[in-house]
Amino acid sequence: MIEDREPIRVALLGCGTVGTEVVSLLQGRPGEFAARTGAPLQVTGVAVRRPHKHPEVPEHLLTTDAAALVNGDVDVVVELIGGIEPARSLLLQALRAGKSVVTANKALLAEYGSELYAAADAAGADIYFEASVAGAIPLLRPLRESLAGDRISRVMGIVNGTTNYILSAMDSSGASYAETLEEAGQLGYAEADPTADVDGFDAAAKAAILASLSFHTRVTATDVHREGISGIGAGDIAAAKSLDRTVKLLSICERVVDDEGNESVSARVHPAMIPRSHPLAGVGGAFNAVFVEAESAGQLMFYGQGAGGVPTSSAVLGDLVAVARNLVVAGKGPRESAHAQLPVRSMGATPTRYHISLDVADKPGVLSQVAATFNEHDVSIAAVRQQGRGPDASLVVITHTALDSALQATVDEIARLSAVNEVVSVMRVEGEQS
Ligand code: NDP
Ligand code: HSE
Repeated sequence: MIEDREPIRVALLGCGTVGTEVVSLLQGRPGEFAARTGAPLQVTGVAVRRPHKHPEVPEHLLTTDAAALVNGDVDVVVELIGGIEPARSLLLQALRAGKSVVTANKALLAEYGSELYAAADAAGADIYFEASVAGAIPLLRPLRESLAGDRISRVMGIVNGTTNYILSAMDSSGASYAETLEEAGQLGYAEADPTADVDGFDAAAKAAILASLSFHTRVTATDVHREGISGIGAGDIAAAKSLDRTVKLLSICERVVDDEGNESVSARVHPAMIPRSHPLAGVGGAFNAVFVEAESAGQLMFYGQGAGGVPTSSAVLGDLVAVARNLVVAGKGPRESAHAQLPVRSMGATPTRYHISLDVADKPGVLSQVAATFNEHDVSIAAVRQQGRGPDASLVVITHTALDSALQATVDEIARLSAVNEVVSVMRVEGEQS
């Protein structure tokens, strides 16, 4: 009888947007979890900062002493506090004592993932973190396990629900940035400090995790080029619309092979214009979607709810069941795989494409001056469009693929041309043939 087996003792650290759902489901469906795991799951305690704010948790389980909870008689620690400290110290403490860990903490994994993996390996414990990237979407398990026999070449997608919620609203209803960010916070999508979302830190941490798993290389958040959406205004959205495109915050991780056949990894997060016909253009609200390209598997697409307590609890509980199953059979999940150790490319050395909108003087020779500047930097132009006449004249240029450093140098020089009044907007272009 499963009920007669020794229970798997679970300590929960944090009971906020995600933790509340995890506790509620664990308490509400004990028989189902026991049947799937092979042993009952017993919550031994829930660590929070303000116990009086948690009437949903039985009082005897609540504690403010997370360290004592981790040090007590527990088999698995589920960390849903977020941030670096005290989460890092608590998880190292758990792993060093041979306790397995489930976490949704991308900020911590992107910075200290290798330290946590090493502690888990040394103690023979598990560390699972499906909820750390793309909420409910099963994405890390496929990268870490199902595609472990393949060679991944590219991972591109929308991995931050908050910024996608904001950009979708700006695109569809012209809503303002500030009001939509507040809504995303109320719906439980945003991080405790929402600048982590809008300035791209959250997406960069996720890109680091995706690149590490995909390319068997240690990539940290500081290796990821990061630009957020706080500089995106109604003008950028309108410029994209006029070209039948939309703006999305993309995370792009690529294996780049140079002319000599040397491989490296590029990881970047930035807003980009994509065609409205592209499948990512239709990803609205807090949904996420990620494309994976692999040598043998070809193209794969993962889509679903990328943020929010209820969807994210699915990924956390899936990990908890996996870890508990391993404990029942004395097995272990996958270890860190960083054997390739490919160098990480700078953004300047990464091939990209630009959309550039210029406010120009209405006089002959402007176009030739601008074109000559592109030519000097060896950047090829894919399309040029002149809009308006007189003082309202503007020039829109879309380039072919070039090194980002060459594109940036071109923009800097164009800004100094006497015929150019202002560089109105510069945005990268993705999702179409170059
Ligand atoms: P919340 O801010 O809603 O909850 C954090 C919880 O941690 C609260 O219960 C808080 O206690 C508790 N806490 C904070 N500091 C301490 C401490 N020192 N000791 C004990 N408890 C503490 O966060 P979320 O639930 O939104 O996020 C949790 C994690 O999940 C983060 O890593 C986040 O990035 C990740 N995540 C979040 C998603 C989302 O959509 N929200 C989706 C995917 C991942 P108290 O309630 O008493 O203040
Ligand atoms: N703040 C994050 C987001 C939560 O908006 O995507 C999910 O990781």
